[in-house]
Amino acid sequence: MADSAAQRVCTVDAVVQCTFAPCDEHITIECALRSFPDSSPGQFLQLRCGDLVGDRPAKGRGPVRQPFLRRPFSIADRWTDDDGSQHLVVISRAIGVGTGWLDRLRPGQVLNLSGPFGRPFRVPERGTSLVLVGGGVGIPPLLYLARRLQELGHEDVTVIFGATTRNLFPVPLTEEPRADGTPMCCVRLPGNAPYAAAVTTDDGSFGLRGVVTDALAVWERSRQSQRSSTTVFACGPEGMLRAVAGRTREHGFACQLCIERTMGCGFGTCLSCVTRVRDPSRDPGWRWALTCSDGPVFERDALFDY
Ligand SMILES: Cc1cc2nc3c(=O)[nH]c(=O)nc-3n(C[C@H](O)[C@H](O)[C@H](O)COP(=O)(O)OP(=O)(O)OC[C@H]3O[C@@H](n4cnc5c(N)ncnc54)[C@H](O)[C@@H]3O)c2cc1C
Ligand code: FES
Repeated sequence: MADSAAQRVCTVDAVVQCTFAPCDEHITIECALRSFPDSSPGQFLQLRCGDLVGDRPAKGRGPVRQPFLRRPFSIADRWTDDDGSQHLVVISRAIGVGTGWLDRLRPGQVLNLSGPFGRPFRVPERGTSLVLVGGGVGIPPLLYLARRLQELGHEDVTVIFGATTRNLFPVPLTEEPRADGTPMCCVRLPGNAPYAAAVTTDDGSFGLRGVVTDALAVWERSRQSQRSSTTVFACGPEGMLRAVAGRTREHGFACQLCIERTMGCGFGTCLSCVTRVRDPSRDPGWRWALTCSDGPVFERDALFDY
């Protein structure tokens, strides 16, 4: 943890406006470091979304409000170059002062980050059917997970990603997704992981009109004759996570949820990120847990409110 909390300065390699869908509001930030501790999908970074003390504002930036606290972002991808340099990717959607600052980053600038923090997804043995369900800005940790699953040799993996509309889908497409929700190879996943994907949009602007649980229902129907056990990994807005929790419970699937809470420190000191977890040994049947260090990935049935 001490290693994770250490600040690191990295150089921004690329800031890519997500132009593929095209997406209006997300940017992909790739940065390079000489070294970085081991990480796993589901873990997050704390980014300093402001100029370093003593820095002058970058050219053309002018005076802007800069947040005092770091902001948490899931690791959306990671790889190692032949020369050993580490590449980290985050995908950010601008919603406020910190993410607005990230939007103004340019290649060659310096980004200060710490991490990795939190408990990652726990990957079952091969032979299990795995479904990665992501909504909007909850998609990034599942991209990194797709790379890891491919490295581990998992073959039975399906991806279901949802967005409110076409312009807010933060992942490159290789083909138009099917409107009936049948998974096909239409999303460019890290490491060229060859997994079929279903895409949903609330307004039907592409993919299946509906929400991710509708696509999960399509997937379930296609699997009715198969009896292999299933684990669903999900990350996204609260409403989506509750729906996925309900549906997976009903169908007897194992399920891990990656949840978001407001985070001050990211490593267990400020207590700003509490969530309720089941604990039969306590009178009310639950206790508080810290999302940053006990999570952000929890087993569905450990979470009291889902
Ligand atoms: C573990 C974790 C992983 C995350 N991964 C990503 C990621 O990969 N990509 C990404 O874009 N974002 C991610 N987020 C959310 C991201 O941290 C927030 O969007 C960011 O902190 C907002 O900072 P800001 O300064 O721009 O907004 P602020 O100026 O602090 O807030 C602007 C407005 O947004 C609201 N707000 C702030 N944070 C959130 C939030 N988490 N959910 C809903 N509303 C919020 C505030 O209440 C306020 O109304 C993650 C959050 C967590 C906890
Ligand atoms: S973010 Fe500070 S304790 Fe969790």
